[in-house]
Amino acid sequence: MFIPQEFIRKKRDNKPLKKEDIEEFIKGVSDGSVANEHISAFAMAVFFNGMSLEEKTNLTIAMKNSGNTLKWDDLDGPVVDKHSTGGIGDVVSLMLGPMLAACGAYIPMISGRGLGHTGGTLDKFESIPGYNVYPDDALFKKVVKECGVAIIGQTSSLAPADKRIYSIRDVTATVESVPMISASILAKKLAEGLDTLIMDVKVGSGAFMPTYDLSRELAESIVEIANNAGVKTNAILTDMNQCLAYNAGNAIEVREAVEYLQNRRKNPRLHKINMALCSQALINANLAKSKDDANKKLELALSSGKALEIFAKMTSMLGGPSDFCENYDKYLKQAPIIEPVYTPQSGIVESMDTIAIGMSIVGLGGGRIKPSDEIDHSVGLENVIKLGTKVDLHTPLVTIHAKDQASFEEAKRRVLDAIIIGDTKPEVKEIYEVIS
Ligand code: URA
Repeated sequence: MFIPQEFIRKKRDNKPLKKEDIEEFIKGVSDGSVANEHISAFAMAVFFNGMSLEEKTNLTIAMKNSGNTLKWDDLDGPVVDKHSTGGIGDVVSLMLGPMLAACGAYIPMISGRGLGHTGGTLDKFESIPGYNVYPDDALFKKVVKECGVAIIGQTSSLAPADKRIYSIRDVTATVESVPMISASILAKKLAEGLDTLIMDVKVGSGAFMPTYDLSRELAESIVEIANNAGVKTNAILTDMNQCLAYNAGNAIEVREAVEYLQNRRKNPRLHKINMALCSQALINANLAKSKDDANKKLELALSSGKALEIFAKMTSMLGGPSDFCENYDKYLKQAPIIEPVYTPQSGIVESMDTIAIGMSIVGLGGGRIKPSDEIDHSVGLENVIKLGTKVDLHTPLVTIHAKDQASFEEAKRRVLDAIIIGDTKPEVKEIYEVIS
């Protein structure tokens, strides 16, 4: 008989965990025979003693198999996805999905809501009236097959063991464990039935991991586990020392994504990171021979309008308006107050506390303080100033979209505290490293 305390003792004493025991433990997490106390003690033992690659892989696969896993036998191309560790103005998924689909990949993207200071792809899609982020399985499969991409939310049948373990880690100071984070992210992604995955691991003042070394450790861990589990995976370490897109919020990021796909307005930072992720995904999926080949195919997907067409079709098949891309301003809610914030001093934008920028959006109502909160899709920050920009008293740092004057004033205070003006031009990077 499996006795959880014996299993926990092994990890506490740094002894190797057997595959069968990891499977029994996760089975117990799913059927309730393992108690919350067992899960919290196990998470703390892993926090202190870590896990070998074999243990992490077995944990990931056991968690993945705790619920439904998707199968895509009837598709005529590779099944691909991207996951980001989260950021501010990180609207990449909205363009990447349709662009990869236009190049022959299938992307069944199961994405999340905003977490802490970071925005969530699902919340962004819910700015579109009628868009159903929880379609039934048959519709999800139909949209993936017919459009090449469907971006939807996680149901309780996907890696349910992770849901229980994560909620306990959240209240036992055990979230910040690289093996547990890796298994948690990958259990959900691998359940999508992927051939290949590209990870966007953020680095900098708005990143989930607090230092470059920890972001790198997480990236390496995820790449090792996923490849060991048979899914070809790379990670790119990308910059989150400032807002990624021009805008950060829900409806205003959707607007930016549509304008990008329409080739009307592309933020160069966002474009560079999006293209790096897309091209690596095409190479991994054997849909491009080289970076150059991938870039050509991706630029054609944009310039021909094919990626935009795919975004429009996916949106409409999932319940959104059929003319959304032509008339997005009619459908996306606008906040009643839209006002710029000016710098009180001239100089150069030296640095940004990007977590504080994200929290200013939460304060406006664009993110959640507690999980049950309703969010206001109309609020956010437009045209967030870039690091290294020369500013004077007439240069707006950002334009705030707010529901009322009080929340505008609070966001203004947070933004002014978060953006540091000095006299040195900072070094600005977009991409640090590719981990294979
Ligand atoms: N995101 C996840 O899905 N899991 C973690 O453990 C941390 C971030």
